Amino acid sequence: MKPWLPLAIVGLWGCVDERVAQLDVGPVESEPLLSDEVILPIPETVPLDARKVDLGRRLFRDPILSRERDTTCLNCHPFAAGGMDGAPRSQLPGRGKLGVNTPTIFNVGFSFKLHWSGRFDSLEAQLDVPIMSPNVMNMTFAEVVERLTASPEYAPTFNAIYGAVSEANFRDAIANYERSLNTPGARFDRFLRGQTNAINDDERRGFELFKSHGCSSCHQGVNVGGNLLQRFGVLKDYFAGRTIEEADLGLYTVTKLESDKHVFRVPSLRNVALTAPYFHNGSVQTLDEAVRIMAEYQLGRPLAAEQTRLIVAFLGTLTSDLEQVQ
Ligand code: HEC
Ligand code: HEC
Repeated sequence: MKPWLPLAIVGLWGCVDERVAQLDVGPVESEPLLSDEVILPIPETVPLDARKVDLGRRLFRDPILSRERDTTCLNCHPFAAGGMDGAPRSQLPGRGKLGVNTPTIFNVGFSFKLHWSGRFDSLEAQLDVPIMSPNVMNMTFAEVVERLTASPEYAPTFNAIYGAVSEANFRDAIANYERSLNTPGARFDRFLRGQTNAINDDERRGFELFKSHGCSSCHQGVNVGGNLLQRFGVLKDYFAGRTIEEADLGLYTVTKLESDKHVFRVPSLRNVALTAPYFHNGSVQTLDEAVRIMAEYQLGRPLAAEQTRLIVAFLGTLTSDLEQVQ
């Protein structure tokens, strides 16, 4: 395996945040590695308890989790549309607009950092936000546990699997389900596993450019992202002259450290061709433009139109069959 270790990345790109060195970006399961590339294929299967996954599946699409019993997780993370709703920023009827673009729920188990701000390290902890946010479920965990305990549909299932309904068990069921929402089998993954004709010449050149131009110093691993924290605007100030909103401050909103201003979790590029609009605020409509902005602001090396085309073609090979996700 190539030394795509955090330290190698730091060495190559002195700008990379030092926290990178503390993150485990290794493979997630023991499947033999079929690739020595900076990008790893999504495992075909992930060992999970099928009963927990099934329970989480029911909860994910049940309005019992919302105060008015009118919202499910699927409202903003619909599966047909790539695991997100396609709005620049989601808004439920009668409620406030969310501060950031809704990311895809697919392959989320392979991201080591969650949220645009990178503030969460686990799916279990992340659940705080959708459950308690007044603009999402607007619930407390105590209320969720109360409803599930009183439910003839859920209480026996929790009892059978966990022995009881509890906040921790609820978080565990949802997180297990989320870890099952994976989209293996993208053409690019088939290429990584040795099927050389799974991608065409342009797509392959796009991949080479993605590496040689420097994109893969940040977007790498199983999710082609999801495991580093980085400033948006490393080599050119992206926010200069723009009206700054709270969400533009990134990790700073959590730590209040000046050095964390505009630092974001590097997003996954899995299925990225399907998940427009782009960036934390959903401000960019096309993949083409997102790629050009990245080259200019993150790498200080603008791309020629033909180069952009090739990289976009490569990114298209990261799209998987979404119907396999249930
Ligand atoms: C009203 C829209 C909305 C609903 C409903 C919603 N989410 Fe989200 N979800 C978001 C937004 C927006 C984010 C990004 C938040 C951020 O980065 O600050 C997000 C992020 C996530 C993430 C992290 C993704 C990542 O890559 O960082 C997970 C996991 C998640 N949601 C799960 C859920 C679950 C489980 C439910 C149901 C209990 C749910 N969501 C309901 C809008 C929604
Ligand atoms: C220094 C790290 C870094 C480098 C290098 C980098 N990116 Fe990014 N990328 C990011 C961050 C951080 C974001 C999130 C920006 C935001 O919060 O709005 C991002 C966002 C994106 C997005 C939008 C994803 C979405 O779902 O909204 C795409 C597409 C993308 N990058 C592609 C590329 C390409 C192609 C290259 C090379 C030309 C590249 N990136 C180089 C860090 C990087």
